[in-house]
Amino acid sequence: MNQKVTVVGAGNVGATVAQRIVEKEIADVVLVDIIPGFPQGKALDMLESAPVERFDSKMIGSNDYAATSGSDVVVITAGVPRKPGMSRDDLVATNEGIVGDVVRKVLPGSPGAILIIVSNPLDAMCEVARRVSGLPRERVFGMAGILDSSRMRFFLAEALGVSVESTQAFVLGGHGDTMVPLTRYSTVGGVPVTELLPKEKLDAIVQRTRDGGIEIVNLLKTSAWYAPASAAVEMVDSVIRDKKKILPCAAYLQGEYGMRDVYLGVPVKLGAGGVEQVIEITLTAEEKAALEKSAGAVRELFKILKV
Ligand SMILES: NC(=O)c1ccc[n+]([C@@H]2O[C@H](COP(=O)([O-])OP(=O)(O)OC[C@H]3O[C@@H](n4cnc5c(N)ncnc54)[C@H](O)[C@@H]3O)[C@@H](O)[C@H]2O)c1
Repeated sequence: MNQKVTVVGAGNVGATVAQRIVEKEIADVVLVDIIPGFPQGKALDMLESAPVERFDSKMIGSNDYAATSGSDVVVITAGVPRKPGMSRDDLVATNEGIVGDVVRKVLPGSPGAILIIVSNPLDAMCEVARRVSGLPRERVFGMAGILDSSRMRFFLAEALGVSVESTQAFVLGGHGDTMVPLTRYSTVGGVPVTELLPKEKLDAIVQRTRDGGIEIVNLLKTSAWYAPASAAVEMVDSVIRDKKKILPCAAYLQGEYGMRDVYLGVPVKLGAGGVEQVIEITLTAEEKAALEKSAGAVRELFKILKV
């Protein structure tokens, strides 16, 4: 029997996550939204593409959580995206209520599920889901680092005229202006990028990575969804297929990197148990300071949470 993934929020990110999961036949999908007819319409449209796209995964669209029971993974994309001039943090009050409500409704039918959070501000919404669900940190974590790294990988490949597949990039920290792209751990074909590009070029790539979200918001007048959906689906795939990939994710730190009780983007091992291990890497004093600054910004948001 196929495994079951619920995607909550059938908007730009959620619908694209659902589409990629069924097209790759990773799992069957239940797509949930509050707008009547919306998830049903999206699901039917995608299923009608199945004969051409050649997938047999099932999909149900629903406004009712009964359809979601027995889910192995729940991806939460419900909430409002930002508009030009807004920071991710401006979304906290609205999305806190939405994410809390979703967790309360989805968990009773799927008590064993792993929760993957996408709604922004990401690190704070992970904390909302953790507090409301009462689940251990292994089962509540967020998507940001894969997206930020993917953006950096694309910029590196473009600058060097090489395949994106040859690039690896490392971005740590919160999903915001204080994220920490690490050029030292970023490589092309195994060669550190610091050997391949001059410092000014690398600094420009780091800055463009930090501003990657707002660059798209300014163009589209809403936030990105193709690359965010790809990143979330890589996480779903690693959990459902128990791949144990090492991926940068927002994880709840319990002493790692000298920090506690805060969600922060760090490399983790993702498998059937969720976050099976937080990987600690050695940081320079400067990188450590940048990570601590990022944690400070996340903690400030935690303080205004009402849950
Ligand atoms: N973590 C990341 O890197 C990342 C990247 C992109 C977007 N995001 C965030 O993901 C979220 C979704 O973005 P989007 O572009 O898909 O927005 P969208 O407006 O296209 O879709 C959001 C959907 O959520 C639904 N929704 C609202 N309240 C709900 C509820 N209580 N229950 C179920 N569904 C509900 C809406 O009806 C809408 O269809 C935003 O918060 C955005 O900031 C995060």
